[in-house]
Amino acid sequence: METVIKVIRNLVISWIIKIFTSNDAVRYASLLLVANGIYEKKVAGCVAELGVYKGDFAKRINICFPDRKLFLFDTFEGFDARDVNAEIAQNFSTAVVTSDFTNTSVEVVLNKMKYPENCIVKKGYFPETAEGVEEQFAFVSIDADLYEPIYQGLMYFYPRLEKGGYIFVHDCNGDMYGGKAAVEKYAQEFNIPYFPLCDVCATIVLSK
Ligand SMILES: C[S@@+](CC[C@H](N)C(=O)[O-])C[C@H]1O[C@@H](n2cnc3c(N)ncnc32)[C@H](O)[C@@H]1O
Repeated sequence: METVIKVIRNLVISWIIKIFTSNDAVRYASLLLVANGIYEKKVAGCVAELGVYKGDFAKRINICFPDRKLFLFDTFEGFDARDVNAEIAQNFSTAVVTSDFTNTSVEVVLNKMKYPENCIVKKGYFPETAEGVEEQFAFVSIDADLYEPIYQGLMYFYPRLEKGGYIFVHDCNGDMYGGKAAVEKYAQEFNIPYFPLCDVCATIVLSK
């Protein structure tokens, strides 16, 4: 009997862990929570994602902010060699060369959107694609994996973040990429507080 109870308990625990990790429920729930706060506090501004890939997180931003312009920044052709070389030169990761985000397109992403008319696609190398974009932002997801675009993303978006707005920086677990180092450098330089989420890839949240 004791063994049966143990097996059932282990099954339940692994099931709960699966729910809270494999589908990234904590990050999605946190997005909902901050979106509610942004509407409650009447924080103005557009929303954006830097690092869209196939649009799986961007489609959730699009649903949470049905009345906001959604800027989508990505090469839609995978990492840029400049960023990869910088990543390797700084010893952040060698695993980065095996990551491939080329199998996507603007069409694939827009087809996933509930409100595609809200989307403004900025295809190409960030931060070059941000030139001329002078909007203010209420929510931004930075999910570009590498040190350079993440640091440049903070340099660009944080000064344009509305008071009461949020930035989520994905992949700050420090195992593979320079994401955590980029946040730490930016936060130290500009004296910005931040806090981690207990989600799958250690998202860091900055606010204003
Ligand atoms: C991990 S994927 C994004 C995952 C996505 N947010 C999702 O929900 O599935 C990282 C993306 O960042 C993009 N990226 C990285 N550096 C970039 C840069 N400098 N300019 C534009 N896109 C970049 C890559 O092309 C890739 O699609």
